[in-house]
Amino acid sequence: MSDKKAQLTVDGKTIDLPVLSGNTGPDVIDVRSLVAQGYFTYDPGFMSTASCESAITYIDGENGVLLHRGYPIEQLAEKSDFLELCFLLLNGELPNAEEKTKFENDVTMHTMVNEAMVRLFRGFHHDAHPMAMMCGAVGALSAFYHDSLDITDPEHREISALRLIAKIPTIAAMCYKHHIGQPFMYPNNKLSFAENFLHMMFGTPCDEPNVNPVLARAMDKIFLLHADHEQNASTSTVRLAGSSGANPFACIASGITALWGPAHGGANEAVLTMLAEIGSVENIDTFVAKAKDKNDPFRLMGFGHRVYKNFDPRAKVMKVACDEVLAELGLENDPLLAIAKRLEQIALEDEYFIQRKLYPNVDFYSGIIMKAIGIPTDMFTVIFATGRTVGWIAHWAEMISGSYKIGRPRQLYTGYTPRDYQPVEER
Ligand code: SDX
Repeated sequence: MSDKKAQLTVDGKTIDLPVLSGNTGPDVIDVRSLVAQGYFTYDPGFMSTASCESAITYIDGENGVLLHRGYPIEQLAEKSDFLELCFLLLNGELPNAEEKTKFENDVTMHTMVNEAMVRLFRGFHHDAHPMAMMCGAVGALSAFYHDSLDITDPEHREISALRLIAKIPTIAAMCYKHHIGQPFMYPNNKLSFAENFLHMMFGTPCDEPNVNPVLARAMDKIFLLHADHEQNASTSTVRLAGSSGANPFACIASGITALWGPAHGGANEAVLTMLAEIGSVENIDTFVAKAKDKNDPFRLMGFGHRVYKNFDPRAKVMKVACDEVLAELGLENDPLLAIAKRLEQIALEDEYFIQRKLYPNVDFYSGIIMKAIGIPTDMFTVIFATGRTVGWIAHWAEMISGSYKIGRPRQLYTGYTPRDYQPVEER
C-alpha cells in the first residue's frame, strides 16, 4: 500500500482519495468512498478499472510480459507442464518432487465423471455445438457433488478444484464423441494429462491407446498457454458469480458461457473460419481492407487485445509450437498456415494496425495447431475452456478464501424520470 493521495474536485468540493500500490504495475485510485459523497465512477468495459486485488497473474501489456505467480510464461512454456502450472496457480509455489507426484496422482484419480453424465449427454442433439454441451455438462456437475459445496470449507474448495481440473478434459472429450456419434472413452490412468485427453478424444474401444508424443506435448503446451490471464471477461464473470456464494461448478459454468463469445475465447474458432474464408494469399489484401473499413463489421480475428499493445507473449510461443507440430506432421506447407503467416506480416506493416497497436494474440496460431492435431474447429473454444478452468478456479478460490463483497455495480441512468401511468384509452 502507499501514502500517496489523489484529489478529485467536483461541484466545488475536493475529495481526497487514497492511492494504493501493488508489488508491480500501475497504482490504483481507491474510489470506494465516492458513493458516500454521492458519486459513481463510470467505466463501461472496465478499461480503467481494477476490480479486485490478486496475486495470481500479472500482465504488462506495453512490454508483452505475462507472469504466473512471478514466473514468466516463456520459462513455464519451455520448462514446466500444465499440471505443474495448475499446482502453481492454485498454491502460489512450484511443487517439489513429492508434491508434484501427489498432485498428478490426485488429478488422475478424479478424471472419471459420474456415469449419470452419459445419460445427460444422450439428451443433447448430436449436432449441438460442443460449447453448448460443455455449458450444460459443467453446470450439471453440481448435481453430483453435494459432498463438496460448502465454499467456506477449505477442504471442499480443494476437492472441487481437483474435480474440475480433472473432469473438464473428460467432459470436453465427451462433447466431441457425442458430436461424432462414437462411444465415450474412459480415462486411462497410465497416461499423462494431455495424452489422456487425446486418447479420450481420438481413441476407440477397438484399439489400444496410441498417442503421438509430439502431439501430446503440443496439447499440454496449448493447455498451459491458456491456463490463466488475470481479470479477463470470463475470469471476471467467475468472480462475479462466486461473489454471490454460488457453488464452484456453477461459477465455472458461468465462465464457460462468457468465454464462448468471438471477441474472447471464441476467437480461435473464428480465426480458422476467417482463414478458410480468405482462402488464398491472393485474397488477403481484400480482407485487410474490410478489417479497416469502419462500415464493415469484419475484424481480423486473432488480432488485437485489450491489454497487450506490443505483442502477446503467448502468441510467440504458440507460433514456435505451431511450426514444430506442422513440421512433425509434414504439414509445413499447410495452406492455412501460409495465409496466417502472410496475413500477420501484412498487418504488422500496415499503419492501421500499427497505429492501433493490433498484434496477433493467443488465438491467432492456436487454431492452426489444433487443426493439425485433428481437433475440429467447433471444439477449439472447448479446448480453451479446458485449459482456462484452472485459472478460473484459482481466482475463485483466491476471492472466496479472502474477504470479499457481492459484486453489484451501479449505472448512469438515462431513462425516463418519474411519470404518471396513462389509462389505455388516453394513449
Ligand atoms: C482473448 O482479456 C484477455 O486477456 C482475453 C484473452 C485471455 O487469455 O483471456 O487474452 C483471450 O480473448 C484474446 C482476444 C481474442 N479476440 C479476438 O481476436 C477478436 C478480434 N479482436 C477484437 O475484437 C479486439 O481487438 C478485442 C476485443 C480483443 C479488444 O478490443 P478492445 O480492447 O475493446 O479494442 P477496440 O475494440 O476498442 O479496438 C480499438 C480499435 C478500434 O478502431 P477505432 O474505433 O479506434 O478506429 O482497433 C480496432 C477497432 O475497430 N480493432 C480492430 C481489431 N481489433 C480492434 N480492427 C480490425 N481487426 C481487429 N481484430
